[in-house]
Amino acid sequence: MPTIVIGSTKGGCGKTTLSLVLASEISAAGSTVALLDADREGSLANWARDWTGSEAISIKAPVNEDSVMDDIADASGKAAFVIVDVEGTANMTLTKAATMADLVLIPQKASALDWERTAKTVKGITDAGRMAGRAIPFRVVVTQTSQVARSKPMQSIISSLRAKAPTLTQELFDLEAFRSIFLYRKTLSELEREGNVKTSTARAVAKQLLSEIIDILKENSK
Ligand SMILES: Nc1ncnc2c1ncn2[C@@H]1O[C@H](COP(=O)(O)OP(=O)(O)OP(=O)(O)O)[C@@H](O)[C@H]1O
Ligand SMILES: [Mg+2]
Repeated sequence: MPTIVIGSTKGGCGKTTLSLVLASEISAAGSTVALLDADREGSLANWARDWTGSEAISIKAPVNEDSVMDDIADASGKAAFVIVDVEGTANMTLTKAATMADLVLIPQKASALDWERTAKTVKGITDAGRMAGRAIPFRVVVTQTSQVARSKPMQSIISSLRAKAPTLTQELFDLEAFRSIFLYRKTLSELEREGNVKTSTARAVAKQLLSEIIDILKENSK
């Protein structure tokens, strides 16, 4: 079952949000997903502690450098998708998880400085691939961008990012619904059902992201 590792040496770039957005959309589509919390801060575990939903999302925490490979092997036998949220530093947990990944996603804000950290992450994944004896597929995911008001500098940073590294077409726009996942400890579809936050754009973004990712996984498994 596909393993998606979400990592970057940069903190706060949107890793945990992306993990929950994808898990939410996978379970809304009727599939099962195991979320592995490989961040000592335990953001996923904290979210899950207050989450009262019944969707097909399981959370394994804590996951660390010693356990991560066993935890991925174990989870992939149980769920249709495995998503690993790795802490935002250069660490061996990311290297080990990457060796077992079908796809690594690197979230990045539209910042030239953040590209340096993405480049470092890409180098780490390339090295992990050398250890594993295969090229590990990865994509950058542009996060926290404005959907409407796009400045010229922001547009130029995104264009140059796309030229430097393989990047998903869909961006994880800065949206209230994505912030609300943590605020209310709910999945996107639960937020949609409750109706206290606007979720239509967020659901469309999540669907599109998942569809791009599934296409990549399918293409790579040929
Ligand atoms: N697309 C988005 N729209 C709105 N808010 C977002 C979005 N992505 C992230 N955020 C907010 O930005 C902050 C950082 O996001 P998140 O915790 O997902 O990043 P992270 O990479 O997991 O951070 P850390 O390195 O600390 O684990 C959070 O407050 C989150 O709610
Ligand atoms: Mg996090």
